[in-house]
Amino acid sequence: MESERNGPDYREERVVEREKIAVGAVGDLPVGRGATVELSNGDELALYNVGGQFFAVENFCPHRGAPLAEGILCEYTVECILHGWQFDVRTGKCLTTDADIRAYEVEIEDGQINILIDAKVD
Ligand code: FES
Repeated sequence: MESERNGPDYREERVVEREKIAVGAVGDLPVGRGATVELSNGDELALYNVGGQFFAVENFCPHRGAPLAEGILCEYTVECILHGWQFDVRTGKCLTTDADIRAYEVEIEDGQINILIDAKVD
């Protein structure tokens, strides 16, 4: 049976929209490097340039909170500088344990790097 999107239950749902955050020019981040991106709400993301492709994940390692933007990047894997946990920067999957982190969509538009962030709207 199909449900309709109206009535009391529908009012309680929150609409999720995506906010496009401009974080710099493509040339600002050299190939093989990571950088910290600070958002206006205080959150931090790690942005990486892997052979001209850009990826963004949460910045803080779920083990003890080290900044992953400072990690060692080897192709699509970043290794945490403190204890060596590894993450796939394309997906946020932790390759060491089951402590996955969040990955964000990155879009390049007219030479600018944009990160797409979920924005909850009432
Ligand atoms: S803080 Fe990252 S592996 Fe320990």
